[in-house]
Amino acid sequence: MISQAITTPPEFKTIDAELGAGSVIHLWLKARRPDRAATLSLRIDGANVADIVTGRTEEFEFHEITLPAGGRAELGYNGSDVAISVVYAFDPARVLEEGIQLLRDAKENASPALASGYHFRPPFGWMNDPNGFGRFGGRVHLFYQHYPHSPRWNTMHWGHAVSKDYLRWKHLPLFLFPASELSERADGRGGAFSGSAIPVAGRDGEEIRVFFTEQMRDRKPEEQIQLSALCRDELSAETAAIILPARPEGLDLTQDFRDPYVFKGPDGLWKMLLGSRDKAGGVVLLYETSDSQGADGWTFLGPLHREDRYGMTAAECPCMVPLGPVDEDQTRWALIFGLLTSRDPATGRRNMTSITVGRFDGRHFLPELEQELDFGSDAYAFQAFVDGDGPVGLAWLANWTDVSKKEDFPTAMTLPRRLLWNGEAVLTPPVEGIEGLRKSLLDSRRLAGGDRLEFENGAIEIELDLSAAGGSFELHFDHAEVDLGLRLGTDGLEILFDRRDGKASPRYLAAGARPSHLRIFLDAGSIEVFADNGRWTGTKRLPGCAEARAARLSAAEGVVLSARVWQLEL
Ligand code: FRU
Repeated sequence: MISQAITTPPEFKTIDAELGAGSVIHLWLKARRPDRAATLSLRIDGANVADIVTGRTEEFEFHEITLPAGGRAELGYNGSDVAISVVYAFDPARVLEEGIQLLRDAKENASPALASGYHFRPPFGWMNDPNGFGRFGGRVHLFYQHYPHSPRWNTMHWGHAVSKDYLRWKHLPLFLFPASELSERADGRGGAFSGSAIPVAGRDGEEIRVFFTEQMRDRKPEEQIQLSALCRDELSAETAAIILPARPEGLDLTQDFRDPYVFKGPDGLWKMLLGSRDKAGGVVLLYETSDSQGADGWTFLGPLHREDRYGMTAAECPCMVPLGPVDEDQTRWALIFGLLTSRDPATGRRNMTSITVGRFDGRHFLPELEQELDFGSDAYAFQAFVDGDGPVGLAWLANWTDVSKKEDFPTAMTLPRRLLWNGEAVLTPPVEGIEGLRKSLLDSRRLAGGDRLEFENGAIEIELDLSAAGGSFELHFDHAEVDLGLRLGTDGLEILFDRRDGKASPRYLAAGARPSHLRIFLDAGSIEVFADNGRWTGTKRLPGCAEARAARLSAAEGVVLSARVWQLEL
């Protein structure tokens, strides 16, 4: 029985914010005890603006309040009855420039405070795949798989952020919410799974159309169906409609049918890829529509590609981009997807991501070569789109093998990367603007001379030039949690990583790599290596939030031509 009688008067807590008229507050709360409803009041300059009552105890309930008048905001609630997850405010007219103002978050879902971190992280809660990565209204938008209430995977929402340079982001209000029957319990039964976004012409200019999978565990006959929604203001999604209610028949596919990726084909039509699985392994499905709005008319063309290596199950988060002008026959296309549950017997790495390069006429894909996206294998669910001259993409800086139900999991995106075709391979160097993060040149002699080099903080880029391709060296970092380093030797380029817990770690090896130029980016929680302009790229997530403190380089005389180290700052 829920009693609404408040035995203890609510305490009014000032949220340190002056909010303007028309500002919007998003907040999530729940009752701490089944016998006492959670009541919360919002006051502006002492006047009551909203009263919220909920008896829900299992999962935080979402509320949106638009302020009729501006002033100083106060929340009144009784902390022994009411649990609050997140409160943020925004001015809809300015939020794309300013971002949301985070007013409260619980310690359970707070983002780690990383003073010098320069990777994208969510403002609170859990994040996995990048979704809907694209340029809309002149801004780069990044949506992502998100659970707001703890740093563990659970019922999926879409978070949202915008940037002008791929590096400095403004956090925006949550974009997609799970279906109401999923949001009542924190039992991970599904939600708004991964997807993509395209620009479409609207009445008053460019609009965003998003595509995503709605997952509902145990729903019959389809756990995973595809939905689409329109966004007219770069901020909020209108009601989503089902565009694909079922898997294609006759292919004997498992329930895996997810992660719609929509892109413009060489014939000018919108194409959609979906990740799936049959008895043999992963299957990438191809759909198309002649509707320029992408809202309707999606028809199945057939399986685009199959992959069964490394014991993989489902193909996840497929993505396809042209590596040259979209309408030229000679243009190669890169098909990129995650090989779920794959394991490379040679190195022990799991959940790898492959790039298949080939010709694509809008209906058929003719593979010509395959390469690995990332030898560190902590760049999962990579998503790219063509921005200006060519594609740019990023990935979740993690791998499902490291996700534990017990441990909190600070999370980030990789640095954004270009995709370039050099006639033989796809290169994935960091985006151009990254040099703008160089705050000061810390060193150009001591590291090369074999001395231990102390960092000011863990936001570091090291650039090495070798006198010959494949010249052997070892670089070791001083890190509180792990043994960490980078070695170039006769068997290739390897990120050295050991958790010091006695358990064997996979080898993060780019077999046979012989680069002569390396850029190494360190941040709290990650190392990223770009060798020969991203011919070999390796990303490794580091557990915890400790920063690397120092480095030492060893190499035979004459191997290292120069070693330059920069402190980075966002
Ligand atoms: C990949 C993935 C997707 C799915 C999403 C759920 O990391 O498993 O296939 O849509 O995560 O969060």
